[in-house]
Amino acid sequence: MNIQALLSEKVSQAMIAAGAPGDCEPQVRQSARAQFGAYQANGIMAVAKKMGKVPRQLAEDVIKHLDLAGIASKVEIAGPGFINLFLDPDWLSAQIDIAIAAPRLGVTPVEPQTIVIDYSAPNVAKEMHVGHVRSTIIGDAAARTLSFLGHKVIRANHVGDWGTQFGMLIAFLEKQQNEQHGEMVLADLEGFYREAKRTYDEDPDFAERARGYVVKLQGGDEYCRRMWKKLVDITMTQNQTIYDRMNVTLTRNDVMGESLYNDMLPGIVADLKAKGLAVESEGATVVFLDEYKNKDGDPMGVIIQKKDGGYLYTTTDIACAKYRYETLKADRVIYYIDSRQHQHLMQAWTIVRKAGYVPESVPLEHHAFGMMLGKDGKPFKTRAGGTIKLSDLLDEAVERATRLVSEKNPDMPADQLRALANSVGIGAIKYADLSKSRTTDYIFDWDNMLAFEGNTAPYMQYAYSRVLSVFRKAGIAESEVTGQTVIREERESALAVRLLQFDETITQVARDGTPHVMCAYLYDLAGLFSGFYEHCPILTAEDETTKQSRLKLALLTAKTLKLGLDTLGIDTVERM
Ligand code: ARG
Repeated sequence: MNIQALLSEKVSQAMIAAGAPGDCEPQVRQSARAQFGAYQANGIMAVAKKMGKVPRQLAEDVIKHLDLAGIASKVEIAGPGFINLFLDPDWLSAQIDIAIAAPRLGVTPVEPQTIVIDYSAPNVAKEMHVGHVRSTIIGDAAARTLSFLGHKVIRANHVGDWGTQFGMLIAFLEKQQNEQHGEMVLADLEGFYREAKRTYDEDPDFAERARGYVVKLQGGDEYCRRMWKKLVDITMTQNQTIYDRMNVTLTRNDVMGESLYNDMLPGIVADLKAKGLAVESEGATVVFLDEYKNKDGDPMGVIIQKKDGGYLYTTTDIACAKYRYETLKADRVIYYIDSRQHQHLMQAWTIVRKAGYVPESVPLEHHAFGMMLGKDGKPFKTRAGGTIKLSDLLDEAVERATRLVSEKNPDMPADQLRALANSVGIGAIKYADLSKSRTTDYIFDWDNMLAFEGNTAPYMQYAYSRVLSVFRKAGIAESEVTGQTVIREERESALAVRLLQFDETITQVARDGTPHVMCAYLYDLAGLFSGFYEHCPILTAEDETTKQSRLKLALLTAKTLKLGLDTLGIDTVERM
């Protein structure tokens, strides 16, 4: 049930019946205060102006035609011409019963699309670090949300697996294998990369060999390909451990690295030239874009092939967008990449559109995000000023969560405690990120994210376990809750309305890729449940009907919290 959509439809019908144009906007919104009803129609003023009518007069005409029998208990005009809509408690009760019984809690089915989501995208022969956290976490929440809604989601891990550094890395892998006489385990990727670089800088023979390997690798040489593949495999095996620890839904099959597009690049450059979009300029191949000006005010040149024949990150992203449309058959493509790459993407996509590789009907969306900052407001680094490895960050989260939950649960068995600390610690890192608007930078703060108060993972996980405890105390399994919902109290009604707004919330998150909207919703829901639980006794309710009804509200609250947290990739726990 999408109440906002239902009311919009009804109000717009009434507006048209009252003489408004067919494309009038009813502007139905959730109202901020219960005294104005659950929803408000704010569109009257703008339409009245267009029609040359007095807004209040139009509002009165609209209300005459507004058919909300059985849905609203009261409709009133407020201020200059707002329409306040109060929902009928019996209608709300019926909707709650329907939602509980429905698959997917009654969320309106969508027209399924094929949606490619580009996220995480670490680099080969490097360890994942804090710079990959936001893309991985927010992208995964989007993937979960869109697949829950019924879309076909293709997770695309655009791994940095190509570039001239691979000559050096292959040569170094070879050197190590020779010295160690056989297969080696590459545990420390950072160290490996550093040593390879040092050897390259210090040993001219090595450097020469490395440069030779770059050429051979690009030429498809079998030995170099095999060594390259080994580096990719080792890296992605390590990254998979991190994804699994973080409960991120990426798998090895989702790796679609930069190298995937290599074979397309020469054809694209030739095609852009043939189309008159690309030209030779000082030996390189360049696309000049009028949309972007350089500092002299001239059209900006985007290089797609260098003088030495090499291709660029932009060339790959042009090919990649084309591939996602042509081969993956995407209806929509979403990129979770930090905001510093915005101009890069815009340039690549401007070329993609001009060349006709992806039609305008298929959106290419950059869901940009800001940086992760330390408490001092500067880029988040180790004390020594180095990048923070993601695996270290996760270790610390679990360590801190272990201290926290063992204090609260001194008698919990060790294995249960370990599982709980893991859910809380990993959940805290993820939720802290998800709950902030993704577009701004955000300050990483252990104390805030692990607090039991406020919009945090521990609070939400605790809130969920508290709802479940109602059933334990009642001695009733969730499946045994029967009867009908009967809403009488103000707080029951407020909780019911919020529960039914899950549909509107997830629809918004799916459209905008803004998981913080889901977090804010769930946090608010948990607060409304607390108020309800305090003022509307469940186990000591005045009669069995009321008790069953309140248990039903508790049940839908539990299901909604769990589902909402699931779409965010946050574990729920039964007890904490
Ligand atoms: N590997 C890149 C980086 O670490 C991110 C890739 C994002 N995806 C893309 N299609 N460009 O910056």
